Amino acid sequence: MFKFKGKSKLSKDIGIDLGTASVIVHVNGDGIVLHEPSVVAVDTNTDTIVKIGKEAQAMLGRNPDHIQVIRPLKEGVISCYDVTQKMIQYFIRRACGNAILPPRVVICIPMGVTEVETRAVVDAGTQAGARKTYLVDEPVAAALGAGIDINTPVGNMIVDIGGGTTDVAVISLGGVVVYESKKAAGDKFDEAIMRYVRRKYNIAIGERTAEQIKIRIGAVYEHPQAKMMNVKGRCLVKGLPKEVTLSSKEMLEAMMEPISEILDSICSVIERTPPDLVGDILKHGIVMTGGGSQLYGLDRLIEDVTSIKTRVAPEPMLCVAKGTGILVKNLDDISITGDKIDLSKRKRVYSR
Ligand SMILES: Nc1ncnc2c1ncn2[C@@H]1O[C@H](COP(=O)(O)OP(=O)(O)OP(=O)(O)O)[C@@H](O)[C@H]1O
Ligand SMILES: [Mg+2]
Repeated sequence: MFKFKGKSKLSKDIGIDLGTASVIVHVNGDGIVLHEPSVVAVDTNTDTIVKIGKEAQAMLGRNPDHIQVIRPLKEGVISCYDVTQKMIQYFIRRACGNAILPPRVVICIPMGVTEVETRAVVDAGTQAGARKTYLVDEPVAAALGAGIDINTPVGNMIVDIGGGTTDVAVISLGGVVVYESKKAAGDKFDEAIMRYVRRKYNIAIGERTAEQIKIRIGAVYEHPQAKMMNVKGRCLVKGLPKEVTLSSKEMLEAMMEPISEILDSICSVIERTPPDLVGDILKHGIVMTGGGSQLYGLDRLIEDVTSIKTRVAPEPMLCVAKGTGILVKNLDDISITGDKIDLSKRKRVYSR
């Protein structure tokens, strides 16, 4: 009998972190094979896709009129179905190479998505060439990928800050006990920086510049030595190019709004968590995952506000993909209800 597991050339089952900012693919037996921006360039004259991933992202803001550069996922959910489906198809083909059988695919979804949004992910996976598409809650995958043993009766708090959504979840016995999902995440940080620069310096900057500012000098806790960055944009008064120097000290003020929303969410989840599980979280601390968790000082700020020890998981951006990889490896041993993986009804102990 064939067993379609591991490095079999017949089929390579895969886990996909289908994110607003990036797609990361984990192939069973091979590990993470692909990490690309969720960006697609479409030629509007011919209605065809011309570039996907990094190559499409490089065109952002520099595209001719007939090329539209699209981010087909917004705030964690599919906003442009056909383009998402083609993007997944392209990544599956790249990841699976010459495998004979179509793969089984595990894809993450943020907490609190609607039935229709969930269905769209399953359909997109299957139409993109998956033999079967299974879904997993993003914070559950993030916790697994962060190395947390989520199947014990111990409460663990995960704060996953992506590009489109921040999921705050308390997980115990493999299931999400309390959660809150907010659209305050990486993209909102960028927008807040754009608004700040416009308001304070009368300069219009693009999304990519705002993201670079966030990554290079973004900070919500003071650096021992302030970081500076020269930023070019268009003067809103004269319409001409203008350069200003921004300091990391300005960044908390710039991003205050989305940061406060995340802090409020964390506090609200703690308030609604059963007392015994709060005790566990106090003991084990809060774990942050997702690209946005790398914002300088956010862990310390959360620690100050909650008085709970907070740490960023190793390789935070890869946690969800690694988690889907663990699930893919154990797909035959875990309980699935409909299309959804349900670790709270575990069939057998699974391995990492
Ligand atoms: N060093 C950094 N500091 C702050 N933010 C960062 C850093 N590196 C990456 N980011 C941000 O992380 C976000 C992407 O994270 P991630 O890949 O986890 O999101 P995603 O999974 O695609 O989104 P979502 O889960 O919301 O659908 C982007 O907004 C990016 O700008
Ligand atoms: Mg994510």
